[in-house]
Amino acid sequence: MFENILLAVDGSEHSLHAARVASALAQAMKSQTLRIVVAFEPIPVHLGEPFMQETINARLREAEAIAQEAVETVGTISAEIQTETLEGNPAEVILEVAKTQNSNVIVMGSRGLGKLAGLLLGSTGQKVVSHAPCPVLIVR
Ligand SMILES: Nc1ncnc2c1ncn2[C@@H]1O[C@H](COP(=O)(O)OP(=O)(O)OP(=O)(O)O)[C@@H](O)[C@H]1O
Ligand SMILES: [Mg+2]
Repeated sequence: MFENILLAVDGSEHSLHAARVASALAQAMKSQTLRIVVAFEPIPVHLGEPFMQETINARLREAEAIAQEAVETVGTISAEIQTETLEGNPAEVILEVAKTQNSNVIVMGSRGLGKLAGLLLGSTGQKVVSHAPCPVLIVR
């Protein structure tokens, strides 16, 4: 059980806390793979060249930096760590990766970068919990 763990991160402190829990879970369950997923928002097509490509590159670099920070937070574990930075709606990206990679559990924070104070569970978390093909561990 829990051979393949999917860890979703958006760079928030909540998601890095989820990274520490995912790391401990991977060690305890002797997992094979811990896949770190960072989604970045699609770029509006009306932007036009050359801004379009510049914006994509900037968002990709930002997403890769977030993934790298998560790798460092996870630390040294026996599972293989993989990172994926993908364009699209965060919940849809997370669900798609969970399905195609046969993830056994999705680990994510209860909140993210969203600014709405008082929210107990963010919209990405709500959507993933509602449609996930596997158990979801919401960390708070
Ligand atoms: N772009 C993303 N890529 C990967 N994982 C994400 C992304 N956005 C959110 N998550 C995951 O979902 C968790 C909950 O974030 P969520 O977006 O639901 O809350 P929020 O940002 O506070 O609220 P909202 O986005 O609805 O304003 C995060 O801790 C993270 O694990
Ligand atoms: Mg969010």
